[in-house]
Amino acid sequence: MTSKGAHYFEERPGAAARPGTVDVVLPDLHLRLATDSGVFSPGRLDPGTRVLLETVPPPPQEGDLLDLGCGYGPIALTMASRAPEATVWAVDVNRRSVELCERNARTAGLYKVRSMHVDDVPADVRFSAIWSNPAIRIGKPALHAMLTRWLDRLTPDGTAYLVVQKHLGSDSLQRWLGEQGWETGRVASRSAYRVLRVAARPGGAAGSPGGTTTNDPAGRTAADDEER
Ligand SMILES: C[S@@+](CC[C@H](N)C(=O)[O-])C[C@H]1O[C@@H](n2cnc3c(N)ncnc32)[C@H](O)[C@@H]1O
Repeated sequence: MTSKGAHYFEERPGAAARPGTVDVVLPDLHLRLATDSGVFSPGRLDPGTRVLLETVPPPPQEGDLLDLGCGYGPIALTMASRAPEATVWAVDVNRRSVELCERNARTAGLYKVRSMHVDDVPADVRFSAIWSNPAIRIGKPALHAMLTRWLDRLTPDGTAYLVVQKHLGSDSLQRWLGEQGWETGRVASRSAYRVLRVAARPGGAAGSPGGTTTNDPAGRTAADDEER
């Protein structure tokens, strides 16, 4: 939440600019990233994102990789640092996030990061890896639509890694993914976070990606739904 009634996943955050920086210090890299108000976790590397980045295996070294919901870019830039020959697509609905991620990639000299609005990714691109700290707070229907849209763009041998807080519904998300035909396992569990590994489902990449972006205006969370 950025201000009363505002969400970090708004397309055009109204919050007044409050530029800052976040140092992303991982065993293999150090990035100083520009942040701002109106984007996710502008004051520090989100602890869930840290768990993801400290537990995922190295990404494929070529092809197209995706950071779904890039924010100011810690996941996309880490992927690009670990796979400098690959093209990293960094997508978000929040325009301020996309601009920050773009600027941060340029500053870091990571020229194979392509930051853009989710609806601007060419329809024929397929991803051999997706890493994401997905926006659980957009509500379960929107979350499921978002994941279906992008997981079906994995290459047949592609893999997604998702970090989800346990109390925001990691177990029910894992169940739902399995029910939809994505073989899903838990590869890490640290403090309140779970990292899920999701394999492409048969026929996924062949299907039409379709759809544009609509987040649940009611703003229900997966956890809210879980409580029902
Ligand atoms: C939990 S934040 C993670 C941000 C960043 N990856 C990080 O780790 O700091 C989730 C991001 O997903 C974005 N988002 C919300 N709805 C989305 C959608 N339908 N498609 C893509 N991204 C979305 C939000 O704007 C937000 O930046």
